[in-house]
Amino acid sequence: MIISVVNQKGGVGKTTTTCNLGSCLIELGKKVLLIDSDPQGNLSQSIGVKEYKSTIYDCLTNDLPIQESIINTGIKGLDIVPANIKLANAELELSSALGRETLLRDCIKSSSLDYDYILIDCNPSLSLLTINALAVCDRMIIPLEPSIFALEGISQLIKIINLIKKKINPKIEIEGVLLTRVDSRTSLSKEFKEQIDEIFGSKVFDTVIHQNIAIGKAQIENMPINLFDKNSKGYKEYLALAQEVIGRE
Ligand SMILES: Nc1ncnc2c1ncn2[C@@H]1O[C@H](COP(=O)(O)OP(=O)(O)OP(=O)(O)O)[C@@H](O)[C@H]1O
Ligand SMILES: [Mg+2]
Repeated sequence: MIISVVNQKGGVGKTTTTCNLGSCLIELGKKVLLIDSDPQGNLSQSIGVKEYKSTIYDCLTNDLPIQESIINTGIKGLDIVPANIKLANAELELSSALGRETLLRDCIKSSSLDYDYILIDCNPSLSLLTINALAVCDRMIIPLEPSIFALEGISQLIKIINLIKKKINPKIEIEGVLLTRVDSRTSLSKEFKEQIDEIFGSKVFDTVIHQNIAIGKAQIENMPINLFDKNSKGYKEYLALAQEVIGRE
């Protein structure tokens, strides 16, 4: 199962979710590959990857077989294809390449990868990199930070998803919409809930990720939450999310 974590809005918890969902799926006995598809390289950093010979950039632009850029994160069963700032060049370099929307799909499908889940951390835009992620995935997780601005851009995202579904990847479905960074001191506004339900209905995950200090601290220490603090609310919620994802299969 390939899942893209996508929202063109910045700072909504895409990388945090990819990292911590991945490490919690490991706890539940799954084998997981993370793919960093963001030139910011935040996922690679937050999982503690420092040394690597190649990145997703080399796979997309130089036909490097994806197996050769996979490294272990230090956690058994949890691997990653890293990214760094070089990936920013890919957009331009690939802009006129033949089949440019499906380069990542070609990389993944041409190698026999043996994982229960492949999680792709998208960058905050609807650019070629994100289109490549949507072209290869089975499902999408859309993290949303509940605020009056959260729904800005959602109609544009849905438009792109529908276009990809029609033209490139008919099997693509929303796995779930995840409310993240929810402030437990303030309840979600009725208006926000109604709007979310109207757009996404049952796709909204039961699990909600609250604002949690341990999540931010873990990221600073370059660790997933389950290695950092198993007593934290953040850990319990991401574990619940992993269970919900497995349950939705
Ligand atoms: N539940 C949470 N509690 C506390 N801090 C959080 C939580 N989720 C995310 N953060 C913090 O918010 C910031 C943005 O999160 P993150 O990097 O995951 O967002 P993003 O959507 O990947 O951003 P970008 O669009 O730039 O890639 C980070 O500093 C992260 O540590
Ligand atoms: Mg990110």
